[in-house]
Amino acid sequence: MMSGETRAETRTVPRGWGHALPKRRVSNEELSKTLDTSDEWIRQRTGIRERRVAGDDETTSTLARDAARMALANAGWTADTVDLFVVVTATPDLTFPSVACLVQAELDNHGAAAFDLAAACSGFVYGLSVVDALLRGGGHRRALLMGAEVFSRILDWNDRRTAVLFGDGAGAVALEAAGPGDGDGDGAGDDDEARRGIISTHLFADGSHSEALRTTGGVVCGAAPGVVTMEGREVYRHAVVRMAEAVEAALAANGMGSDDVDWFIPHQANLRLMETMAERLGIVRERMLVSVDRHANTSAASIPLLVSEESAAGRFRRGDLLLLEALGAGFTWGSALLRW
Ligand code: ACO
Repeated sequence: MMSGETRAETRTVPRGWGHALPKRRVSNEELSKTLDTSDEWIRQRTGIRERRVAGDDETTSTLARDAARMALANAGWTADTVDLFVVVTATPDLTFPSVACLVQAELDNHGAAAFDLAAACSGFVYGLSVVDALLRGGGHRRALLMGAEVFSRILDWNDRRTAVLFGDGAGAVALEAAGPGDGDGDGAGDDDEARRGIISTHLFADGSHSEALRTTGGVVCGAAPGVVTMEGREVYRHAVVRMAEAVEAALAANGMGSDDVDWFIPHQANLRLMETMAERLGIVRERMLVSVDRHANTSAASIPLLVSEESAAGRFRRGDLLLLEALGAGFTWGSALLRW
């Protein structure tokens, strides 16, 4: 499914990004003390060197809240001006209330709409698409979209096939519905301003592959919440094909080629997978952004966490074209094109 190609005048424009990470770093060496694995095996197969793991006082909602505070500060907004809170996560603190409601309360906002959305590792692309539609629909003006996870709480720490792959963290973006002529306040660069924001989003799923990547339980099925199980090769095989499909859908819908893309921002699951993808798509390595080495796979948090870090480092220039793409359990997959 695609949204955005019949663009009305309203656009969804990111105004500020934020991220938050648990304090504790866990290196591959540390994992190899309790698991039959090695730094060499993990780095060669995945590119991962270390990950963050949440402590007792850190949860999906505290990480989302901290990322949201940074996004608000970077946008120059106060929380009371936000009228939509959306959290994408597969690891909510509670079944309910939603993480979005917990964050909203922490930020002392009263009355905005708030809900969670689950699409596993594709969550952020799904969230962007949903929030874009809600903002362009006119019912909301300012949204906080957060991707936050504590996968460490749903891992079997005795299973070397999965325990080494994931990490905890959060990313957030402050998104605004901007009409024509809504500049950044300085009155300059109005043409640039009119091209900014989400250009299109493309979402897909095929639930017939649910066995390849899943948890062993949930609220209804088995001992909640279960642990992650994965058929790694099966996921790899599908991911390469499906993610390429999502990227091609985004480029084709906008009459663009891979040369038009300034920054390729894949979901951070595995460096080998990302490099294979980039090569197939004709995207040069220097244009692909990577954080899986530092954070491992943070599921729905990986894309906003990476964009926030790179934004803080001054990586992007006004007018740059960002292509985001992801695949996750379900399978779900998708892409989004964004003008900085
Ligand atoms: N350390 C040492 N050995 C290991 C480890 C480990 N951490 N994990 C598995 N092995 C062993 C296996 O037991 C197996 O040993 P055996 O031959 O004696 O049985 C051997 O390594 C090969 O196992 P495979 O699973 O075939 O290894 P593979 O080369 O496929 O690499 C990996 C595994 C890295 C998970 C790969 O399949 C992959 O990248 N898959 C993509 C999945 C992914 O990234 N998922 C993340 C979530 S989904 C998403 O976000 C897109």
